[in-house]
Amino acid sequence: MRQAGRYMSEYRELRKRYGMLEIIRQPELSCQVTMQPIEAFDLDAAIIFADILPPLEGLGLKVGFEAGEGPIVHNPVRDEADVLALATPDVEEATWFTLEAIRLARRELEGRGIPLIGFSGAPFTLACYSVEGGSSKDFSLTKRLMMVRPDIWRQLMGKLTGLVGGYLRAQAQAGAQALQLFDTWAGLLSPADYAEFALPYNQAVIREVSRAGVPVIYFSTGTSGMLEVVASCGADVVGVDWRIDLGEAWRRVGPSVAIQGNLDPVALLGDWAELSRRAARVLESAGGRPGHIFNLGHGVLRDSPPENVRRLVDFVHEYRLEVKAGS
Ligand code: CP3
Repeated sequence: MRQAGRYMSEYRELRKRYGMLEIIRQPELSCQVTMQPIEAFDLDAAIIFADILPPLEGLGLKVGFEAGEGPIVHNPVRDEADVLALATPDVEEATWFTLEAIRLARRELEGRGIPLIGFSGAPFTLACYSVEGGSSKDFSLTKRLMMVRPDIWRQLMGKLTGLVGGYLRAQAQAGAQALQLFDTWAGLLSPADYAEFALPYNQAVIREVSRAGVPVIYFSTGTSGMLEVVASCGADVVGVDWRIDLGEAWRRVGPSVAIQGNLDPVALLGDWAELSRRAARVLESAGGRPGHIFNLGHGVLRDSPPENVRRLVDFVHEYRLEVKAGS
């Protein structure tokens, strides 16, 4: 996650000339950034360079990224009138640049045998930004709307579910070979609230997208207290963060689900001895079970030395070979 980004000098170079949204809205540039980590490291998959927020423009929301502040929604959704005013999007028109970037990236990746992951924000996490208008510690405006006006909440989530389902299906059609649903803020909810106010919409999206025949990865953070509920969303792969031991997470969700994770991204800021020790612990917890996707529990941090990323990728590849050879 954030496989491409500011920790790479190639990305920072390009950002001197273009804003982040400019890169995302020009398919050639998105494709170029998608390929940057693929050129630099021996990664097993590429993820299309985009963000979870631009598709919200299809609903009529105005999205921006301000330096140092993260994402902004200039006209947040706060009441029933705001929800009713949301447009019913033509998803392909609203997201054409990412769909085209997927087509371009597939062409680049084909010869190398590297698959491409498409993605979307999950309805709950998109609702967080749509209501709050930007990043927040606790997203209290969003949760208050959910608690106090569940009727408005359901209308909003219905619209977001339609957008997300259509967007992911279009990405599969454009050539994405796996789809990741990012629910970064799901951990702000109690298990009961998650089950009532977020889960049904994830299930609807995943049911819809599974018909495209492409595997779905569900990512969230801070949800180890309700992992069984989260895993019932129907995804093929469940991402877990470092707040739970990976082996324990797997025991709890059962063997029919693959697991992605779960190195703490901060480990990449440390020296190699400590980083490799921590990576080995994740691999040991996975225990060589089929269906483990080694990943970080959240995005690569901007001060991560690329050399650490390179060594980590190689370490994980070699470690797996040793386990196989010894078993
Ligand atoms: O993984 C990849 O390489 C694909 C690209 C990708 C980005 N954002 C690019 C990006 C992906 C998969 C995302 C997902 C995303 N975006 C999520 C879900 C996953 C997560 O990280 O929790 C969320 C919540 C967002 C919203 C978002 N976008 C935030 C909060 C920020 C600001 C964070 C920051 O570090 O400033 C962004 C900006 C963003 N999206 C950057 C990148 C590479 C920073 C780039 C820049 O400023 O040039």
